Amino acid sequence: MRILGRIVGVRSTKQSVGIKVGGFLPRHHINGRIYGRIHGVERMVTMKVRWSIYVLVCCVLLCLTGCGSNKEAQRSVLRVGVVLYTQDDPFINALTDCLKEDLEDYETDSLKIIMTVRDGKNDQKLQDEVVEEILDAGCDILVVDLVDRTEPSNIIKMAKNENIPVIFFNREPVREDLMQWDKLYYVGGDARQSGTMQGEIAAQVIRTDHSVDRNADGKIQYVLLEGETGHQDAIIRTDSVVKTLQEQGITLEKLSYQFANWNRGQAENKMTQLIHHYGDEIELVLSNNDEMAMGAVAAYEASGYPKENRPVIFGIDGLDSALDAIQNDLIQGTVYNDRAGQAEQISRLAMDLFQGKELEGYDFENERYIFLPYQKVTAANVEEFLNR
Ligand code: BGC
Ligand code: CA
Repeated sequence: MRILGRIVGVRSTKQSVGIKVGGFLPRHHINGRIYGRIHGVERMVTMKVRWSIYVLVCCVLLCLTGCGSNKEAQRSVLRVGVVLYTQDDPFINALTDCLKEDLEDYETDSLKIIMTVRDGKNDQKLQDEVVEEILDAGCDILVVDLVDRTEPSNIIKMAKNENIPVIFFNREPVREDLMQWDKLYYVGGDARQSGTMQGEIAAQVIRTDHSVDRNADGKIQYVLLEGETGHQDAIIRTDSVVKTLQEQGITLEKLSYQFANWNRGQAENKMTQLIHHYGDEIELVLSNNDEMAMGAVAAYEASGYPKENRPVIFGIDGLDSALDAIQNDLIQGTVYNDRAGQAEQISRLAMDLFQGKELEGYDFENERYIFLPYQKVTAANVEEFLNR
């Protein structure tokens, strides 16, 4: 029995039990009968042990594969398909980063969230195809920044066929389109407010710093960098910033309006031409976004204009580069476009729609639109916005 005990004890080693037994009881030291009995026991034990090892290995394999995937299978999966108008827009990319973080925060042991980001490459037809691919691959919620905000119909049709809710953001579809189906939503900023705030900040700077009116003619000669034809933010910001400045008693003289498609490089080119044309006549640059304001800064840096001959420059978005430029007095103000708040609303809506919850606690306008407020940013409060 002691032998058995020792033989059984061998189970835990990876060596063959037979060899181990031989090691404990060299066969030539034992007579035939005993050898026969021991040999029989040995064979029986070997089989038992083999069987036990087999069962053990099966258990381990089952736990490694079976139990794991069982647990995974119990974990429900939310697949969020994010389709951008382009992946080449710093504001949109910053918002997308916030969205990714927010969705990650919603993950639990019982819910896995997969967010896929695709590029519409500034082409509505291509964006429609990308949406089709995403729907084919399997998707629970679509989040779309339209290339052309007047052309959401194909996307709406495809999503409706598959019963997949769509949260549009940043580029606002008209109400008629959003009312085509009850699972369509929009999250964005209040465009009018951003223009008004930009006008208020600019008016404040112009009133307090008389050197802005460099030629002291009582008028402010200005250029305006516009985002994009047809984009609600470009149209409304342009309109409301000018109106606000006038309402605030600033006399404006328009030199030129230029489209630069929200883009820093294009704005730098346009601004370089304007500098060649108008020289230091330009006293104010109003830009529909920060990227184009930074393009204007780059044009002035490259032109070698001394700071005192440069205009005051204002952007919108509150991107890090613009905050930095405010701290260095390269631009004089911006308006914070609440990317964090918008991402937060998109992720919450995505979760609630996925889980089929009542949509409670949302500040809807026109039933399906959520507009987040903007905030003014100047040298006085820029620190509050750093590292948001
Ligand atoms: C932002 C811009 C951005 C544009 C894209 C606007 O709301 O202010 O920076 O390029 O949206 O659609
Ligand atoms: Ca002037």
